Amino acid sequence: MPEIKVLFVTSEVAPLIKTGGLADVSGALPPALRQINVDVRVLVPGYTQVLAKMGPSEVVATFKDLPGFPPSRLIFSIMKSGVPLLVLDCPPLFQREGGPYSDPNGHDWIDNPLRFGLLSKVAAVLGSDESPLSWRPNLVHGNDWQTGLTGVYLSVAKGSVPNIITIHNLAFQGNFRPQKVQLLHLPPASFNVNGIELYGNMSFLKAGLYYAYHITTVSPNYAREIQSAELGFGLQGLLHARRDDITGILNGIDTQEWDPESDKHLHSHFSASRMAGKAHNKLALQMRMGLDSDAGIPLLGIVSRLTHQKGLDLLLEIAPRLLEMPVQLVILGSGEAFMQQAARELALRYPGRVAAMIGFDEGLSHQIEAGADLFIMPSRFEPCGLNQFYSQRYGTPPVVHNTGGLADSVVDCTPETLKNGTASGFVFSGMTANNLFFTIKRAIDLYHDQRKWKALRKNCMSKDFSWETSARAYRRVYMKVLGWK
Ligand code: ADP
Ligand code: GLC
Repeated sequence: MPEIKVLFVTSEVAPLIKTGGLADVSGALPPALRQINVDVRVLVPGYTQVLAKMGPSEVVATFKDLPGFPPSRLIFSIMKSGVPLLVLDCPPLFQREGGPYSDPNGHDWIDNPLRFGLLSKVAAVLGSDESPLSWRPNLVHGNDWQTGLTGVYLSVAKGSVPNIITIHNLAFQGNFRPQKVQLLHLPPASFNVNGIELYGNMSFLKAGLYYAYHITTVSPNYAREIQSAELGFGLQGLLHARRDDITGILNGIDTQEWDPESDKHLHSHFSASRMAGKAHNKLALQMRMGLDSDAGIPLLGIVSRLTHQKGLDLLLEIAPRLLEMPVQLVILGSGEAFMQQAARELALRYPGRVAAMIGFDEGLSHQIEAGADLFIMPSRFEPCGLNQFYSQRYGTPPVVHNTGGLADSVVDCTPETLKNGTASGFVFSGMTANNLFFTIKRAIDLYHDQRKWKALRKNCMSKDFSWETSARAYRRVYMKVLGWK
């Protein structure tokens, strides 16, 4: 197995900086790749949080005059997972209070084109003859729109290596005014329908999809869905034309970070053969969240960004009907103001039955996965989704919409699938409040048949969601792009 050197470029990586699943993937896929002889190094912006959390470090390069960008430098460190890390330090662009993409009020940083233009530019420099480092990748692997310009810069660099891009979410495209083309010193000819132009704007993601040698999506089903008008977000034409260059690879999970037998966030540990700990976690969660202590009531859990994508507006709509049954609801999430408000109001209306925590809380997210009986994830679309994996691993069958990676990773519970041992959750088709309601009801009915419920939980917990298989699939893509045998 020949060694492949890969520069993995990402705008977030757990545990240093996380807003969603991209961070989980960037934290867990690289170590899995290193196990199979891929020398992968991660390039990430030097946000304040990253500089504060990274381990011992040294400056390994400076970039004084990249045209259009303020001076920056590269800091080398090693992640806890053992993966070498390159931090792109540029204080005027990355050191500020707020999130990676938006300010503390939730507004996108106005200079995002420059910030992620620089990330893409430096990735391209490191993948070409201009690189100041002695370590040179065979291939650059970018993720999402924030790395989208890498291929454009590589296309005009001397001695450049091939690049691929992984789509984690096509809904975020990084589209900006055409004037940015000049500001970012992109080749003027690239502003073309055969290039980075999208409906009169310049698009980071379109650039990424157009210039990459190969495209991957985070589930096989999503690879098909994005070629349709419904889920192509205006890029379906390009994606359909490039269909032979697209590979869908299902995400895995970090099975050390998410292990009910050793999870540091849990009140008590458990496994498929020792389930008592799960009941303790349920009681601890009820206590922490101010819910009535009740071992027998079905507890529904939600951990999510509160956005249109995640479909929780439907859950909030049916909540009063659901709460006519003996159930409890715990919600952890942040996002759109009206949904945050609706979740808070629901909790006020049903004290002891509904609890809502608005914000981002890593520990609580683990406690909900472990303490809840059912996990609710009715996403309108979901490129992969990670919480449905975590919940299955924690013996908390998920209720999911039949879309994207959810369809690829949850097997609907029917008498047949329960019998043959494949059932692992509840899947509904047709994104309506009624369909969601009756699917949750179906799950609750099964919950009351403890023999069947235990069988279902056991199936969930015996599934293998480790990164190993998927890392091999990425390696095959790298080999193919490089033309290596
Ligand atoms: P997405 O990336 O679209 O938000 P995923 O399911 O792929 O969806 O990943 C979401 C990740 O972010 C999971 O690890 C989930 O536990 C975590 N997460 C989402 N919201 C919160 C929150 N409010 N607090 C803690 N973790 C959260
Ligand atoms: C995105 C998607 C999510 C996916 C994650 C990691 O945030 O919305 O479905 O699991 O990326 O690939």
